[in-house]
Amino acid sequence: RRTDFSPAVVIGTGYGAAVTALRLGEAGVPTLVLEMGRLWDTPADDGNVFSGMLRPDKRSMWLKTRTEAPLASFLWIDVVNRDIERYTGVLDRVDHGDMSVYVGRGVGGGSLVNGAMAVTPKRHYFEEILPSVDADEMYGKYFPRANAALGVNHIDPAWFETCRSYKYARLSRKHADKAGLTTTFVPSVYDFDYMRREEAKEVPRSALASEVIYGNNHGKRSLDKTYLPAALGTGNVTIRTLTEVRAIHRQSDGTYRLTVRELDEVGNVVATREIGTRYLFLGAGSLGSTELLLRARETGALPELSGEVGQCWGTNGNVMLGRANHMWDTTGTVQSGMPALGIDAWDDPEHPVFAEIAPMPAGLELWVSLYLAITKNPERGHFTYDATSDSARLNWTADQGQPTIDAAKALFDRVNRANGTIYRHDLFGDTRPFENRFTYHPLGGLVLGRATDLYGRVRGYPNLYVNDGSLIPGSTGVNPFVTITALAERNIERVLAEDLRQRG
Ligand code: FDA
Repeated sequence: RRTDFSPAVVIGTGYGAAVTALRLGEAGVPTLVLEMGRLWDTPADDGNVFSGMLRPDKRSMWLKTRTEAPLASFLWIDVVNRDIERYTGVLDRVDHGDMSVYVGRGVGGGSLVNGAMAVTPKRHYFEEILPSVDADEMYGKYFPRANAALGVNHIDPAWFETCRSYKYARLSRKHADKAGLTTTFVPSVYDFDYMRREEAKEVPRSALASEVIYGNNHGKRSLDKTYLPAALGTGNVTIRTLTEVRAIHRQSDGTYRLTVRELDEVGNVVATREIGTRYLFLGAGSLGSTELLLRARETGALPELSGEVGQCWGTNGNVMLGRANHMWDTTGTVQSGMPALGIDAWDDPEHPVFAEIAPMPAGLELWVSLYLAITKNPERGHFTYDATSDSARLNWTADQGQPTIDAAKALFDRVNRANGTIYRHDLFGDTRPFENRFTYHPLGGLVLGRATDLYGRVRGYPNLYVNDGSLIPGSTGVNPFVTITALAERNIERVLAEDLRQRG
């Protein structure tokens, strides 16, 4: 078998990986980036790169034969999901018993499928979750750097008040106001000027054509439009797609050897190769990076890895719910797929909640107000290695999700009481009003200052780094990608200065 060698390797192309690749490239370090998903840049026969949410096809999901949308039903009928051909599609749902984790697959990772909400966490909460990180530096330097490089923009409040596409958000704001709650605009990496032109019918529709979780054909500044082309533009970075890293070994000379699988577009393994590197950066996300190190420890490949590998994982307190509106309270038939408003009750002393006002972009009036709430759930899961399947299994039980429901219920009972409304019981497959069996925001597993040092250097293994969502201990209080990006900017700056530049 041929062994390629690259001075630096980055695993993954999500937020942490993209930052890492760009800064390595700028510093003149030849860097190979390995991504298990495909590159999403070529239109299919229908003229679109992605398949959209109303008629999803094989492009929608990663190696599944039926789509698995979080909103499982309407009036208890499975009208949402569709049979599809097995393909290396853009959204994966990884099932771990009582918890299913959604992740993006492809060049850009989660940025391809997410709701684009670009929220900087409240400083006091950031200090609470990562007390060892200098908050002055984060808020003075790295959050601004991340926001600028991600292309974060703000909605024009005057347009928001009159447009059709946010009628649903204005309605939820009215209901929140009535309950005495505060709403706030949510910054975004979706281009609000483009959205405005969508509504004016000047450009092809994307956010206004119900596109979100299976990719946006227009308007979204995903990482393949921002950090990643900048990284390639340095001339030092190469991205290899459909390449899944399976194992990490350390050689006697201190370099690392990776075993990678090359996949075809339907997920078959077409080749297995070895790649060598001196500096190895894990950016495969909370599930991906944690699994790689847990497997390395448990198979004896990297036996000195600490017991902290696989610990302190959380859902960011995610829960979804719907409220049934009165007949006279309509949400509108055109709903922007990109949320722009949230209910900010994070300072509630008993039940902190930040609830994004979510669209239900079905193209018809459903009299539903939908929310994805982020709560402060102190429960944490952990991963164990299952040798039979050679994979990491998440240990998370249904009762660990109860604090999430309690918090959301406290808030939305209040909204319902003030407005004389009730919960929807028909949206999640059975009669439950709160869906907390999935998360969009997996965080932790390789926590900063525990499994790694304070800059993501893996304890026990020089030149091995983690720089993604697995560093964050289970919660950020807001949607996490701005935090992941800013923290990655901070870590790579230090690592470049101390570990790579000094050695030349
Ligand atoms: P990320 O998961 O982005 O990237 C990891 C990459 O590594 C993937 O491309 C994966 O394919 C690849 N990979 C994994 N294992 C590998 C291996 N062994 N070999 C090679 N490649 C491998 N956040 C937010 O702030 N605002 C929002 O609006 C939303 N909305 C949202 C909606 C949906 C549907 C989802 C699924 C997620 C969100 N999020 C979000 C969450 C956000 O997208 C998420 O927190 C980040 O993408 C995580 O960034 P990371 O850098 O940690 O990894």
